[in-house]
This record gives sequence, structure tokens and C-alpha cells, in this order.
Amino acid sequence: MKIKPSYPNYMDIKTYLNEKKQQVENGLEEFMFKAEGPLTEHIKALRYSLFAGGKRVRPILCIAAAETVDQHTDYNTIMPIAVALECIHTYSLIHDDLPAMDDDKLRRGKPTNHMVFGEAEAILAGDGLLTFAFELLTRHNTNQIDPTDRLRIIEIIAKAVGSLGMVGGQALDLASEGIDIDFEQLRLIHSCKTGALITASVQAGAIAGKATPEQFEAMTSYGQLIGLAFQIVDDLLNVEGTKEELGKAVGSDAERQKSTYPAFFGLEKTRTMARETVNLAVTALEDFNNQADSLRELALYIYNRTN
Ligand code: IPE
Ligand code: IPE
Ligand code: MG
Ligand code: MG
Repeated sequence: MKIKPSYPNYMDIKTYLNEKKQQVENGLEEFMFKAEGPLTEHIKALRYSLFAGGKRVRPILCIAAAETVDQHTDYNTIMPIAVALECIHTYSLIHDDLPAMDDDKLRRGKPTNHMVFGEAEAILAGDGLLTFAFELLTRHNTNQIDPTDRLRIIEIIAKAVGSLGMVGGQALDLASEGIDIDFEQLRLIHSCKTGALITASVQAGAIAGKATPEQFEAMTSYGQLIGLAFQIVDDLLNVEGTKEELGKAVGSDAERQKSTYPAFFGLEKTRTMARETVNLAVTALEDFNNQADSLRELALYIYNRTN
């Protein structure tokens, strides 16, 4: 089954996102374990957070990046990678919400995983999702990605979410609660805890679509910039957003004295910085033709989003 390059020829970004989101939901349902047998309770905990909603931004970015370089991206080739990225992201949210971390009670509009299943089960649900993601990354339903490229994708994702990436960013985020840090450190935290997985999502799609080295480099810059912008906007929404729309707590960053862009720069300057970062991301794609419009629109969506 082909994923049609649906944007920009006849669709706007909302329709594009809805269509891609539906494809990702189908992929998640296809690959995730069913809650049955002796592990029913454990699998229920995994599925609870995975299917609680979520914008599916990382898998959509991966698919969009693949389609930007290869119009004929095949569903069976890209979907296990896209689903793996969402599994990793969902694991990071479950752990991020734990009492020992951000201690949050609401996520994706529902009680957090540990509120429903208890802390031990929530930790294991995260472990299960992370590990399953790497199993999925080794899965090759088609021969469209050669083994060297597949290894490269796995390496990029592993590095992005490990101690020198997302996990390290989370460690720095916690360590910087209640203390003054400089701008360079703030940017590093945001780029690691959130930017790294977003960058890797774009890079994985680019490799799956057989990007040239130049295309890969441009998409890497794009990914780093939208990844940073994504967390800056997350900071803004924690101040300006509503609990109803976000499906998670607001005001919690200030309560926990998190190091955030609004705390550092104030709201107005933060908004400007988010916009400038997104504009730079779009500029990074200037050598691409309109096949990259979906990525361009996704960058704007990341800036404009209200949840
Ligand atoms: C929230 O991510 C956590 C961050 C890394 C900023 P999303 O805003 O993508 O959350 P979901 O997946 O839509 O719930
Ligand atoms: C989330 O950062 C980063 C990861 C989960 C890796 P935040 O803690 O700022 O995100 P929210 O606001 O809880 O979604
Ligand atoms: Mg956090
Ligand atoms: Mg949090």
C-alpha cells in the first residue's frame, strides 16, 4: 500500500495531519500486542498510554520526511519505523509523569499511567514500549531499506534517545529545577529532551527514503530547529494554554521551578524566538521543491499549535 503524497496538491495541513494520523493509528493497532493471555495487565498498561490520543507528530514527521525524498514511499516499509518512534515517545511521557520526575496526574486528557496502574507497572510499561520499539526497527517487511541503512536508522534513534540525547536531557531538566542556568544550558536541555527524538524522526524518514547526503544534512538542520521550537512552544503552552485543550496540567513548570524559555526570556520574547526558530527550519529546506511542502507546513503547525 502506498502513502500518497497528499500535500500540497489538494489538501491543507489539517486534512494532511488527520489523514497521516489515521494511518499511524492503524499502524499502532497493527503492530502493538493485544491485551490477552498471561500478560494482559501489563499489555493493558502499554496500550492505555499508547492509545490515549496524542498528536503523533514524530511518526508523521518520519513519514513526511520519507515522502519528501521518495514520492513512492511504501506503507509497509515506513510504518514499523513510524510506530517505533511513537512507542519511544509514549514511554518517555509515562516516565516523565512519574512522581519521581514531573509528578503529573493528567496526560493526553486521561489520568497518567501510574495513577491507573501504579508506579511499578508504569515503569514497566515504559520499559516495554522502549524495548518493543527496537524490535520493530529491526522488522523488515520489504526490501526497500538495505541492511546498512537500517542499521544507520537504528543507531541514529538509539543515540538520540539515550544518555547523550533524550535521557540525558531529562536528567539535566530535573537537575536544573530551582536553579539558575545559562541560555546555552537551557537550549541544550530542550534540544536533548525533546529535540533529539524529533530530529531522529526526520532523519530516519530521510534515510528510509534514500536521501542524498545533502538532503540528509538539510533535513537534519530542519529537524534540530523544529525539535527545539517544539519544546519552546511546549513551555509557552504550559503558561498560556488550557488544561482542557492540552489534556495535561498547566502552570506546572513554574510550580516546579523548571528552567524554561518563558522563565528565562518572558512570554513575548519566547514567542518571537519560537517563530524565528521555525522560520530557520523552513529556510533549511530551501533547496527542496514543493515535495517538501508537508515538512514546511509541519514546521508552521508546530509553531501555531494550541495542544
Ligand atoms: C509532549 O509531546 C512532550 C514533549 C516532548 C514536549 P507531544 O506534545 O508530542 O505530546 P502528544 O504525543 O501529542 O501527547
Ligand atoms: C517532556 O518534557 C520531554 C520528554 C518526555 C522526553 P516536559 O516535561 O516539558 O513535557 P510535558 O509538558 O510534561 O509534556
Ligand atoms: Mg519533564
Ligand atoms: Mg513533564
